[in-house]
Amino acid sequence: MKKTPISLLPVLVLTILWSCAGNRSNSMNTTATATNTDPIDKKVDSLLALMTLEEKVGQMNQYNGFFDATGPTPQEGNSKTKYEHIQKGWVGSMLNVRGVDEVRAVQKIAVEQSRLGIPLIFGSDIIHGYKTLAPIPLAESASWDLEAIEKSARNAAIEASATGLNWTFAPNVDISRDARWGRVMEGAGEDPYYGSLVAAARVRGFQGDDLSAHNTILACAKHFAGYGFSEAGRDYNTVDINRSTLHNVVLPPFKAAVDANVKTLMNSFNELDGIPATANSYLQRELLKEKWGFDGFVVSDWGSIGEIAIWGAAENLREAAKKAAIAGSDMDMESYAYVEHLVALVKDGEVPESVIDEAAGRILKAKFELGLFDDPYKYCDETREITLIGSEQQNQDALDIAKKSIVLLKNQNNLLPLKKSGQDVLVIGDLADDKNSPLGSWRIGSDNETAVSILEGMKQYDANISYQQGVRLTDANAEFTLEVQVNETDPSGIDAAVQAAKGKDVVVMVLGEHGFQSGEGRSRTDLDLPGLQQELLEAVYAVNKNIVLVLNNGRPLAISWADENIPAIVEAWHLGTQAGNAVAAVLYGDHNPGGKLTLSFPRNIGQVPIYYNYKMTGRPTNLPGAPDDLVFWSHYSDVENTPLYPFGYGLSYTTFDYDQLSLSNQEIGMNDKIEIQVRLTNTGEVAGTEVAQLYIRDKVASITRPVRELKGFKKVSLAPGESTIITFELDQSTLGYYNNDGEYMVEPGTFEIFVGGDSYADLTSSFRLK
Ligand code: NOJ
Repeated sequence: MKKTPISLLPVLVLTILWSCAGNRSNSMNTTATATNTDPIDKKVDSLLALMTLEEKVGQMNQYNGFFDATGPTPQEGNSKTKYEHIQKGWVGSMLNVRGVDEVRAVQKIAVEQSRLGIPLIFGSDIIHGYKTLAPIPLAESASWDLEAIEKSARNAAIEASATGLNWTFAPNVDISRDARWGRVMEGAGEDPYYGSLVAAARVRGFQGDDLSAHNTILACAKHFAGYGFSEAGRDYNTVDINRSTLHNVVLPPFKAAVDANVKTLMNSFNELDGIPATANSYLQRELLKEKWGFDGFVVSDWGSIGEIAIWGAAENLREAAKKAAIAGSDMDMESYAYVEHLVALVKDGEVPESVIDEAAGRILKAKFELGLFDDPYKYCDETREITLIGSEQQNQDALDIAKKSIVLLKNQNNLLPLKKSGQDVLVIGDLADDKNSPLGSWRIGSDNETAVSILEGMKQYDANISYQQGVRLTDANAEFTLEVQVNETDPSGIDAAVQAAKGKDVVVMVLGEHGFQSGEGRSRTDLDLPGLQQELLEAVYAVNKNIVLVLNNGRPLAISWADENIPAIVEAWHLGTQAGNAVAAVLYGDHNPGGKLTLSFPRNIGQVPIYYNYKMTGRPTNLPGAPDDLVFWSHYSDVENTPLYPFGYGLSYTTFDYDQLSLSNQEIGMNDKIEIQVRLTNTGEVAGTEVAQLYIRDKVASITRPVRELKGFKKVSLAPGESTIITFELDQSTLGYYNNDGEYMVEPGTFEIFVGGDSYADLTSSFRLK
């Protein structure tokens, strides 16, 4: 008979014991008597009954990786403690452990050396791909292609799981209206309706249909909640928003993620109503776990439990641990608060043990759902690691969504597309010849310098193009330091670029931000082109007006001068591994751009925050009959109120026309739905893709409503001259809003509707809801 390896004994013991242990309540209420009937809940109950208090608290503790060159056997300090804590069963999860070898080695400590052998969950920030990088999430959102976005998350999960990981700290579903905040690159822009659809698509992509499959991973909707509203766009700053904004703008994407069965949420660094989110019971218990019925677990953000004390909302780490646990933060990421204090807090009667049971139970449940108790090494397969990572298919899909993410902002006199031959083209810009920057911020598993640069992409079409650096942008390959923020100030390359530009048919200037100039901790107080790039742009423009400006950036930039003067502007973000191929396909017309902005571009920094779904004021314009120059209305005296490019905006190499707007009814009842139809025609010379958008305005409501709200869109491809009828539907689920207590309500009254190709859509009609 084959002998059972000693190393699997703890797991086998557990398997036998599950059936005979008692039941667990999944609520903080220790008097609850309901018997769990779900097979996984039963196993969780059985396992909890076997665990010591220390072991249960251990599940709530997450550590950063501690691998060194010799393997996971650190000799001293912090690493030694972490190692020993895993042996004692005091760790539930690790983050940033990389690759099959490392994951297996660390998992072995938990499974073979701890008393109960409970496997660890391995998490990491797989934000837009693991090794093969897709566009940054903000760029992806500009594709308005939910299928492609879901596939991109699916691909990220396939690569990540092949390296031993089973949890991503994504999607970031923070709505933000502030381009100063560097983390807008991680989200889906400013709109809660669209942001909710993207959130759900990303969750589906990461988690798939079957969480126990070896290529699906836990998703994590973050940061709960309000982080995207950091005051003045300064990262980690305080947040001060009203309840209407919280319920109608911030929370919907989290709710959508929960409805899509997201298994984890991460709380956030900010406070809300004066209470740090990590210690916020209203958010984590009342709303998330009770009202929304979320059955997964909440992880803190890095060190955010410790930060409760820094905020001055707790006396010390011990009190912070108490507040966070009671408020429903289930797992402590690197604060050492739970592991150091929770056992004593329970023994001293300050934290009920039911709180620990509930949190540990939620975490164990996720482990069962992943199938880790059946095979703790199921994600550790070197063959998958070698064959799946960086595969041809991954690269093709990354290219597909990179092309779809590009937004054409301007194309005067059809300067684009470029001709594939017979045009004398000069490319200028440090970013054009960069294989690192296009990878963007957050790139846990990718190697540096692995993107196709824009220059490489373009040379595949025209080997004769010439190149000038112009000015260096930054000495930036530093992911975690401020070095990247320092822009070069040496103007000596400008002259060579200007000389080379003279007489060229077209000059393509690739300018913007380095991939590490946006992202976490990368807030800016100015949204101009960093460094000497504006000077370079104007100097080249002085000798050659045929400029195509290709922007690389992780956030909207204030490019009013360029919009006024430069004939063609392409928003190409940080597009990931296939960046250069995608940009070249658009520039040379092999892909007709169809992306649309999901975050408004301001005219200047002073307009920020600027967003399309703003509230009406009492003085939106000069009053009728008032003299034109009367100043007492809501405006600036130096710039108009509108953004440079609005939400939903993006051009194509063809043109589209909207007409024949019709409504199925002029009046509907509360339980009815209304159909809205419009004819869309491709009126140009080439095939193209349009994102047709439907906006509503609730004219009069108990709580003021935005002037426009997106409530539907359709992405449609049409041949030249082709028309199609597009149908949208509205009903209760889209016509209501949340009141200040967070209750959804639908009120009778008149709704205006607007249909078109961006948030300025001007084909309009209205109906009444009885
Ligand atoms: C801090 C970030 O805010 C969060 O989004 C991320 O998941 C963690 N660090 C872990 O890297």
